[in-house]
Amino acid sequence: MDISIKHIADPAAERCGCLVLPVADGGKFGAAAARLDQAADGQLARLVKSEHFSGAAGKSVLLHNPSGVAAQRLLLLGCGKPGAADAAAFRKMVMHALGAVQATGAADLVMLLEDVATNERDRDWQAQQLGLLAGAAGYRYTHTLSKPEPGSRLKKVVLGSATRPSAATVRALDEGRAMAAGANLARELGNLPANICTPSYLASQARALAAQHPQLHCRVLDEKKMAELKMGALLSVTAGSKEAAKLIVLEYRGGARGARPHVLVGKGITFDSGGISIKPGAGMDEMKFDMCGAASVLGTMSAIAGLKPRLNVVGIVAACENLPSGTATKPGDVVKSMAGITIEVLNTDAEGRLILCDALTYAERFEPQSLIDIATLTGACVVALGKHASGLFSNNDDLAAELLAAGSHTHDRAWHMPLWDDYQEQLKSNFADVANIGGPGAGSVTAACFLSRFTKKQRWAHLDIAGSAWEQGAAKGATGRPVALLTRYLLDRARHHKAAD
Ligand code: BES
Ligand code: MN
Ligand code: ZN
Repeated sequence: MDISIKHIADPAAERCGCLVLPVADGGKFGAAAARLDQAADGQLARLVKSEHFSGAAGKSVLLHNPSGVAAQRLLLLGCGKPGAADAAAFRKMVMHALGAVQATGAADLVMLLEDVATNERDRDWQAQQLGLLAGAAGYRYTHTLSKPEPGSRLKKVVLGSATRPSAATVRALDEGRAMAAGANLARELGNLPANICTPSYLASQARALAAQHPQLHCRVLDEKKMAELKMGALLSVTAGSKEAAKLIVLEYRGGARGARPHVLVGKGITFDSGGISIKPGAGMDEMKFDMCGAASVLGTMSAIAGLKPRLNVVGIVAACENLPSGTATKPGDVVKSMAGITIEVLNTDAEGRLILCDALTYAERFEPQSLIDIATLTGACVVALGKHASGLFSNNDDLAAELLAAGSHTHDRAWHMPLWDDYQEQLKSNFADVANIGGPGAGSVTAACFLSRFTKKQRWAHLDIAGSAWEQGAAKGATGRPVALLTRYLLDRARHHKAAD
């Protein structure tokens, strides 16, 4: 999707497939709609009347070939009460408009949103959201379809501005567009089946990203190297699989040489069968999405490489399969992590924390300013939060607040969960330093507690995206979350960094 911003002095003279015009409750026109109505000789007012169009949010009417207007179509977009649209309502309106125009044959659209006064957010926020939403609307999965249905013709979305847009607004749109492109990469990797999207495939994608961007550098560690590093926990997960495990390291060097990086670590289980503690059959296909944390790291690195903020970022992906076989790790096996902590594997389906603990220990060598892991870690997180919020755990309240703010600003929201010491007791083992499961209560908290054992020296946070990373049912597919949250978080760090110089 081609997404841009443009100063439009006279909307009636704007040649395009469709002009989107906000109309408030009671069919009240804003400045742009009023100007168009005048140019079209009252056609808009007559349409509002004959269609009994109330201007309610979530409703719209389409007008073909309006007279006196250069646009081929006009979409009157209901916006509800002026000033009443909060962030969620604004997003719904924009998504509705994109969907309505995609249902027409229009190849391009111009949105004049200035008359939509949101009560919470400013013009720059709106531009970022338009970039995010229009970018997301441009994604379709086709990779393994032999005859994909023709998609919408919409290829270009323009945010029209009655005044000359400020540099900050242009930048905000760029940021939203880059976040959406990163999220679309994450969605594609998530949606690809596990027989295509293997650990080696993820490594080749990371290498391809590095080849595209001079500031990105990629290194891939194989199992031999992992064994040298004594990554016994990670290797115990891949033990039952024929696919080779990969530890992918992508470095973005946009800051001062020697400036400590922010490090992202993604769970990249390209298929999670549960291993010997095998999962039930129903819905097991969805465990191809168990690499969505890894995908979000690659998507974020790609967005960051495009936006070029002044900071250093390292993306680490721990990738392997979790399968049962004669060589697989068994319940009760004790393995030794790179940190030297021994782990009793009571359930081979709690594998995410096993690959992450070694990746988090490996991350120490970069001396991170902040260390954030992203993982589809627990079914318990889905029970706790459903699909709307990612679970956020952290050993540092300032870092947690920064991540929550980034999530709220992008509407890629997270919710702060407890990481109290009281929960640590549940991980006691009679045969190792720690057990890999914590019993029935607070499953997402004990998983985070497990990881916290390996990040004591770090300013660390963990995002459990088990509920937010993909949609189930008819709309089954990866969401690309939390690429927007992570990208916003990193961009804000660069901004603060600059101000502090
Ligand atoms: N990848 C799963 C978590 C998951 C399950 C994500 C369902 C999304 C939907 C993870 O590896 C897992 O299997 N976790 C177990 C942990 C348990 C054995 C302590 C779980 O959540 O059941
Ligand atoms: Mn599992
Ligand atoms: Zn898993």
